[in-house]
Order: sequence, then structure tokens, then C-alpha cells
Amino acid sequence: MDEFAEKLIHGRVHVSPKRLGNPGPDELQKKQILLAANAAPDHGRMMPWRFIEIQQTSRDALGEVFHQALLDRDQNATPIQLQDAREKASRGPLLLLAIANYADDAIEISKAEKLVSLGCAIQNILLSAYALGFGSGLSSGKALQSIRLRSLFNLADDEEPICFITIGTVTKNKPGRIRPTLSAFHSIF
Ligand SMILES: Cc1cc2nc3c(=O)[nH]c(=O)nc-3n(C[C@H](O)[C@H](O)[C@H](O)COP(=O)(O)O)c2cc1C
Repeated sequence: MDEFAEKLIHGRVHVSPKRLGNPGPDELQKKQILLAANAAPDHGRMMPWRFIEIQQTSRDALGEVFHQALLDRDQNATPIQLQDAREKASRGPLLLLAIANYADDAIEISKAEKLVSLGCAIQNILLSAYALGFGSGLSSGKALQSIRLRSLFNLADDEEPICFITIGTVTKNKPGRIRPTLSAFHSIF
């Protein structure tokens, strides 16, 4: 494999959002990173996804949703847990919410196919960020299922929030995981 592609694909690792600091991508880099999404495979060319950038001035509103969503799930959450939930919204210079769009414009394209397309778009974003020297991490969590989050971002009924993408400069990181061997996921029929 071409050395650059090899480094890009195998060099990218998940970085926890708490280890992603400033500087984040500048406007030009951000555009390049986001535009990588539109090269994702997309059966039927339906663009079954979109990304919302949560700018710094909106982080408090997201933090409030994380706080309230935890209280909804657990009335006994401690002040520390609630504070931690709130702080998650402030992490990382670039924060995106990845959203699947399952609107049934063409019935023969399944939800699974649409989700695969979103996954590819996310990976393009991660690789593009990595190529520019940034680290990235994905995060999900129960708050994604909260009606509060849906209403904060004004999601349509056909839309499903899938995960957050945080991008920034790696401040420190743990060693990457040992990746599965070929025989664990490949067989010959
Ligand atoms: C949709 C999705 C959601 C994820 N959510 C989380 C998360 O909430 N917390 C977390 O630590 N990692 C999360 N991850 C990242 C995985 O933990 C990470 O990709 C995995 O450990 C493999 O490591 P690697 O990306 O360095 O190869 C998520 C990954 C995906 C695909």
C-alpha cells in the first residue's frame, strides 16, 4: 500500500475528547475536513446524513442538556456526576454532531445502508483531520436518546443523532488498542 495511505489509515486512533485541546482546525482546514464527508459512498445519492457544528457560544446550552438528561435518567446523580456531564459539552475546539437521516425517499435503500454511508462520511472526516495533524474522538452516550437533545438541535422525526465527533490538538494520549488480526475478520469461501 502507498506509504501515506498506510500511515493515514493505521495511524489514526481514537483520542478522548478531554485530551483534545487548542488549536483546532482553522476555517480553511475545517472546510477541508467537512468536505471529506461528501466523498462517502452513498447508495441512491440520498445524502442520508448531516453534521451540526456546536460552536463555543452554544456549548453551555448543550451542557445544560447533558446535565438535565442525566437527571432525567438518574434522580440520584451526584453534583460531581452532573458537573462532569455538563463539562463534556465544553471539550475540544471543534465539536460536531453526526446525524443519520432515514427519510424514505427511496424505499429500497435500507436504514442500514444509510448508516453505513454515515459511517464512511465520519471516517473520511476523521482521516482528513488526522492528515492535517489533528486528533479526533467519537463519543456517544445516553443523552443522544434524550428528547431534550432532539429539541435542542431541532431534529426531524426521520433523523437520528448517532455520535459526537471532537477534533483538536492531541494534548496527551494513551497507547492505541491492539487491532484485530486479519484471521479474526476474514475468511475465504
Ligand atoms: C459510533 C461510535 C461511537 C463511539 N462512542 C464512543 C464513546 O462514547 N466513548 C469512547 O470512549 N469511544 C467511543 N467510540 C470510539 C471507540 O471506542 C474506538 O473507535 C475504539 O476503541 C477503537 O479504537 P480506535 O478508533 O483507536 O481504533 C465510538 C466509536 C463509534 C464508531
